[in-house]
Amino acid sequence: MDTAELFGYKNKNVLVTGAFSGMGKAAARLLSELGANVYAVCRRNGRHSELDFPICRILHADLGEKRDLDNLADEIPDNLFAVFFCHGIALNSQGTTYFEGSNAMEVMKVNLLSTEYLISRIINKIEDSGSISIIASSGGYNWKENAENCQELLDQETYEDKLRWCDEHHDLIASAYVFSKECLNFYVTANAFNPMFIDRKIRINCLNPGNTDTGLKSDFGKYTSVTGNEAEGLDMIEEIFIRPWNGYWASPEQMGYPLVCMGSKIFSYMSGQTIFMDYGISNTWLYNPYWF
Ligand SMILES: NC(=O)c1ccc[n+]([C@@H]2O[C@H](COP(=O)([O-])OP(=O)(O)OC[C@H]3O[C@@H](n4cnc5c(N)ncnc54)[C@H](OP(=O)(O)O)[C@@H]3O)[C@@H](O)[C@H]2O)c1
Repeated sequence: MDTAELFGYKNKNVLVTGAFSGMGKAAARLLSELGANVYAVCRRNGRHSELDFPICRILHADLGEKRDLDNLADEIPDNLFAVFFCHGIALNSQGTTYFEGSNAMEVMKVNLLSTEYLISRIINKIEDSGSISIIASSGGYNWKENAENCQELLDQETYEDKLRWCDEHHDLIASAYVFSKECLNFYVTANAFNPMFIDRKIRINCLNPGNTDTGLKSDFGKYTSVTGNEAEGLDMIEEIFIRPWNGYWASPEQMGYPLVCMGSKIFSYMSGQTIFMDYGISNTWLYNPYWF
């Protein structure tokens, strides 16, 4: 059996956001090795700008800017077989209750609104039986408890309406990282049978990673500590999520490679799923007689 054929990416156009680092880069590298024509979205003036594997084209965009989203949508090629949303930023406020002084609006724009808006703009560029795979987070685990708020936001008609809703709900978006990821889980769950996807058998799924050793790790450390001390914050994170199971931070490949599988022909009967790739930590929030 030809493994590359099994994935179905050979000579197919794929789009990867956040492709220049972390999980997105791991996914883009594997896609390139599987023979895909990789269109890699790079943040203009972002932290990263180089790839050491072949791709088809770099597309520059700040996904927090509506104008860039529109330009990007125009530049994206037709006949996309798979789209991977791997971009995201952390919330720069310690704890989850302070809106003032935080980048909460930016987090909502980058982590959520960009993805939802871009999908609506490029849906006709995605092939029948294509796929959309989104990286959310195990931080969005409690989305069902917040489903009403997620729905209210996503039901707003336009990008501007959604932005206005966020601005009118500072209490809800004070924990913008968590809320944006909850909304992504809601979106995927609610929309698998949306005619815009199901009529053309376009699959939509999300991957919810646990703690992963990427560029965001240091941001998570800084923003978890009340004093902004990265080492202290990382220690707090490890105390809660890593040490109890004598565990370890995942590598970017441990997220990027499964994401590539999800978007491939191998998973052609999977849609509307929110996959938690966290070594089962989120299961322990449901039931675990062995947790400490
Ligand atoms: N690492 C974790 O523990 C963890 C856990 C759960 C979920 N996640 C999620 O996993 C996804 C991938 O993150 P990662 O961990 O691989 O971290 P990462 O290496 O920092 O990757 C995030 C990527 O998003 C890009 N990006 C951020 N803001 C952007 C913008 N405005 N426009 C365009 N691109 C932008 C970044 O570009 P620049 O670096 O150039 O700015 C970077 O390439 C994110 O959605 C994150 O929330 C991460």
